[in-house]
Parts: sequence; structure tokens; C-alpha cells
Amino acid sequence: MKEETMCEYAVCLDNISFTYEGATVIENLSLRVRPGEHIGIVGESGCGKSTVLKIIAGLYEADRGEVVIAGERSPEKIRKHTAVVMQHNNLFPLSIRDNITCGHDISEEAVRIACQNASLTEWIESLPDGLDTNVGERGNQVSGGQAQRIQIARALCKDAQIILLDEPVSALDQDTGQSVLNALNALMYGKTVIHVTHHRETLDHSYTVYRMKGGKLVRE
Ligand SMILES: Nc1ncnc2c1ncn2[C@@H]1O[C@H](COP(=O)(O)OP(=O)(O)OP(=O)(O)O)[C@@H](O)[C@H]1O
Ligand SMILES: [Mg+2]
Repeated sequence: MKEETMCEYAVCLDNISFTYEGATVIENLSLRVRPGEHIGIVGESGCGKSTVLKIIAGLYEADRGEVVIAGERSPEKIRKHTAVVMQHNNLFPLSIRDNITCGHDISEEAVRIACQNASLTEWIESLPDGLDTNVGERGNQVSGGQAQRIQIARALCKDAQIILLDEPVSALDQDTGQSVLNALNALMYGKTVIHVTHHRETLDHSYTVYRMKGGKLVRE
């Protein structure tokens, strides 16, 4: 595909394949997402949804095919353009604050608002060290739902054009999940979004939905 055509898209995957130690999970998969478009990905457990998202996030590299995200090909640069809420805990063994800011110069006020929108404030205020509380090795001193909300606050603080969500509220109770989804929806306005979920009903009419099957994405 021509370079200038690929760069028109926020996300361009061209015939990519990916294998984990001999097990092929993605095979000749192509996807184009225009800037500002909202894409939902559904599909059976184990079909490869999280793997595709990690490639788009610049966390994994495809074995074959082309990956151009926000006009970039290098994983390092791709990571600068994407904000990610992963399905499983991906916290650093640092304070809650450092996990939200990731070392970037983000004001105290912006962190406070992100925590509020991620429904974290009450819990953080109950901690003796507040935002300076260490989350432990791989975040093992916080619950799955708290880890998920810290990732969401991180995404809310990062001014990225591409938002990647992998079951972002799966560990939250229904009410908290809904309020956090509302905050995410406000963040997502005008941005490119790829949202992986088993709960199709959380994808509103703005989403084009794809089903992952046999290593490929098929539009529903
Ligand atoms: N690190 C890994 N090493 C080896 N195999 C892996 C690894 N991660 C995932 N897999 C395998 O790759 C396949 C796709 O996994 P993936 O996590 O992408 O699925 P998924 O569609 O996100 O599933 P779920 O809906 O359960 O989250 C699965 O068969 C899984 O067992
Ligand atoms: Mg998954």
C-alpha cells in the first residue's frame, strides 16, 4: 500500500500476522480506522482481541505485514500517540500519582480531575499516603478494580489522539462502571477509539463493530 494512503488513517494494519511460540493468533489481518472513528471489537475469549490491541498500542510487533499508527511505524513513537487501558493490570511498582502521570509534567489539578472522573477520589482520600501510596510489585497491593481505574485516570491525563480500551470496566460494579464509561466517553469525543469488549451493549451507535474470528476482523 502507498505510504501517503496509509498515513491518511489513524490506524492502518495491512496483512499482519502474529504468532506466540508456534501458535498463530493473527493471520493476514487488515484494518483501517479513520481519524475520529470509533471501532468496537467483539469475539470469543482467546480469539486474539487483546493481541491486536497490543500491536496497535506499540506494545507488540507484528511478525509480518505493515503497521502504521498515527503515521508512525516505530513502536516507541506509536506509544506516544496512544492511550491504553489494558484488560490486565499493567501498573508500575510506583506511587498511584506516578502511575497516572507516567513521569510527564501533569498538573496536580489535572490529576485530581482525572481521579474524580475515574471514581478514585474516595478511595485515595482513605489512604494514609493518598496519591503517594505505592501500588506494589505489578500493582499487587491494589484490587483489580482499583488498578483498572488508575489506568483510566492515566488515559484521561494523556492527551493522545488514539484511545485503546480492552474491557476497561470489567472489574468494576455496574454503577461505578457506568460512571467511569461516561467519563471515558467525554474523553473520546473527536478522538479515534478502539474498544474491545464482551459487552456489546456498552458500544453506542457511534461504533462500527468488528468480530474477530479465525485470526481476522470481519465487519458485523
Ligand atoms: N503471552 C502469551 N503467550 C502465549 N500465548 C498467549 C499469550 N497471550 C495470549 N496467548 C494466546 O493467544 C490467544 C489470543 O489471546 P488474546 O489474549 O489476544 O485473546 P482475547 O481475544 O483477548 O481473549 P479474552 O476475550 O479472553 O480476553 C489465546 O489462545 C491465548 O492463550
Ligand atoms: Mg483479551
